[in-house]
Amino acid sequence: MRRCLIAANWKMHGNVPSIQAYLETLIERVGSDDPEVVVCPPFTFLPVALLIASGSGIAIGSQNCHWEEKGAFTGEVSATMLAELGARWVIVGHSERRQHFGETDASAAARAKAAQRAGLSVIFCVGETLEQRDSGETLAVLERQSAAVAGLDPALLAVAYEPVWAIGTGRNATPAQAQEAHATLRRRAAELLGAEAAGALRILYGGSVKPNNAVSLLAESDVDGALVGGASLDVEGFCAIIHAAPGHRPGV
Ligand code: PGA
Repeated sequence: MRRCLIAANWKMHGNVPSIQAYLETLIERVGSDDPEVVVCPPFTFLPVALLIASGSGIAIGSQNCHWEEKGAFTGEVSATMLAELGARWVIVGHSERRQHFGETDASAAARAKAAQRAGLSVIFCVGETLEQRDSGETLAVLERQSAAVAGLDPALLAVAYEPVWAIGTGRNATPAQAQEAHATLRRRAAELLGAEAAGALRILYGGSVKPNNAVSLLAESDVDGALVGGASLDVEGFCAIIHAAPGHRPGV
């Protein structure tokens, strides 16, 4: 069985006064039969989020980490530092990092390895641009971007399929488009990690997930959860998405 995983990517949003109420509501509403829930606020809110979520079923993650443990890397935060704080997850290779901050397949792979070395679980993001989809390159792009998975520990890994054209645009992939991409990613994971690990791997969909489309996306057999940006900022909406997901789905 794969336990569904719903992750909130707050991006550069949030403020200290609102975090407490948000997390308290979440802790109250999420039960043990629900999917696993991870909240990824900006770095500066991690300590307060960790304090509030401590002892609850809600895990806290970061939105990025550096590939070195320490050094002269002004403005960066290492996976070791995040682990020391108590974070359990880190999002790696998000398309906004690729688009705006020069993230490459190689740097994303290095960050993911460093995160796992520090004991963090990784949400490794892949996804095609609109141009790539329109020119029929989607599956090839996913195969290329997911090659990094070969060097990773499947026990500390989830993959997120996030078509770039669906992120923050209000235009989500259809359930069929998501299922096709997820099935490709699972086949690829089977080649790289073996059938058993691929069967247990959670593949999340991200890109304009909202309470009103979550049920149909999460009904697809290879969609094991969601990485939610904009809609995760409203705790009611985020809870609705969590409750749209089955707690578990059969693995291979
Ligand atoms: P969105 O973002 O839900 O706002 O489209 C998803 C993401 O970027 O992870």
